[in-house]
Amino acid sequence: AGVFTYDPGYTSTASCDSTITFIDGDKGELLHRGYPIDQLAGKSHYLEVCYLLLYGELPTAVELEDFETRVTRHTMLHEQMQYFFRGFRRDAHPMAIMVGVVGAMSAFYHDSTDINDPWQREVASIRLIAKMPTIAAWAFKYHTGQPFVYPRNDLDFASNFLRMCFAVPAEEYEVNPILSRAMDRIFTLHADHEQNASTSTVRLASSSGANPFACIAAGIACLWGPAHGGANQACLEMLKEIGTPDRIPEFIARAKDKNDPFRLMGFGHRVYKNFDPRATVMKQSADEVLDLLGIEDNPILQVAKELEKQALEDPYFADKKLFPNVDFYSGIILEAMGFPTSMFTPIFALSRTVGWVSQWKEQLADPAHKIGRPRQLYLGETTRDYVDIENR
Ligand code: CMC
Repeated sequence: AGVFTYDPGYTSTASCDSTITFIDGDKGELLHRGYPIDQLAGKSHYLEVCYLLLYGELPTAVELEDFETRVTRHTMLHEQMQYFFRGFRRDAHPMAIMVGVVGAMSAFYHDSTDINDPWQREVASIRLIAKMPTIAAWAFKYHTGQPFVYPRNDLDFASNFLRMCFAVPAEEYEVNPILSRAMDRIFTLHADHEQNASTSTVRLASSSGANPFACIAAGIACLWGPAHGGANQACLEMLKEIGTPDRIPEFIARAKDKNDPFRLMGFGHRVYKNFDPRATVMKQSADEVLDLLGIEDNPILQVAKELEKQALEDPYFADKKLFPNVDFYSGIILEAMGFPTSMFTPIFALSRTVGWVSQWKEQLADPAHKIGRPRQLYLGETTRDYVDIENR
């Protein structure tokens, strides 16, 4: 027995100290290693941000080239892993495939599972970041019934991913640089977000000494839920269901109705009580991408903009400080690129892998870290005697 502080949903409990990411939810500020997210999304690119998250500083040109070479050397999957994909039903959700395949990596890469060996930890980190796009793209290919496309390491990270998703063997495929840039920006905006549910899951799994692939698989499983990473799929499906601006008031009324479980997907955040700075960049990016692709008057974008406007003017959302989050506009870009909604959360997972891995490494390097073991407030029966079945 003991007296414990009960903090449902951990709204006011810090689970670790960290030097990776800082969020000021009232200001709507997000910093990685001190650098504002809008500067990173505008001037940097995903692999450079990966380096920053993993090692704490922006790389020099030589360091960046070396890091990119290390990542591109690890993009291929063990050939035997194909059979793992082929064991799934074709209609399996790509997230279900990713949870399984990433968990199974510990059976394919034995030489990077010893968490006490710094070299193995480093190799596991690079392998996870490098192979996740291949895993996500192969889940997509398997789902659509097309042959797997192998990684091409002369391409940049985002172009390689797009090619593995959309190229067909024996046919020429040119990666559109506009799409590649937009893809890279989506990766960058999702790279890390301090102690969110999936990152905390990775840290808790790791606290028992579990291998890195098992820990990241646990993070992917947690991310899938619609209150977290699954919101991007749910948001675009909601915007499509709304369909036309005249139906928006009906959906806003439902979101406000306490007896209706419906929520406006892509709205609200545990930490941001102001604009999610990632949503601001994502909105600009959606405009740019649709414009550059020559997609005018996209009806979904119109519904999204009008929904945002009406929700922000509504006292319910203002009083509760509910603003659009990162998932509100990302789906519009991904759909314009040709991704089905089922691929939205896998793309979030592959982007967030570097955040999970950086936080996992930070935890293991902390000499004070110990197994995560929350306590409870026990509200059940006190001691009572067993009653034989014939007497119940
Ligand atoms: N639509 C309508 N009402 C909402 C919404 C929403 N999207 N979000 C929160 N509320 C209400 C909620 O009903 C509650 O009202 P009351 O105080 O009267 O009971 C109040 O606002 C506070 O909500 P909460 O659920 O206690 O807040 P939380 O911090 O536990 O939840 C959240 C945060 C993100 C889970 C929630 O806002 C939500 O479900 N949003 C929709 C899903 C979504 O877009 N998730 C993506 C989050 S960002 C990316 C990521 O994390 O992956």
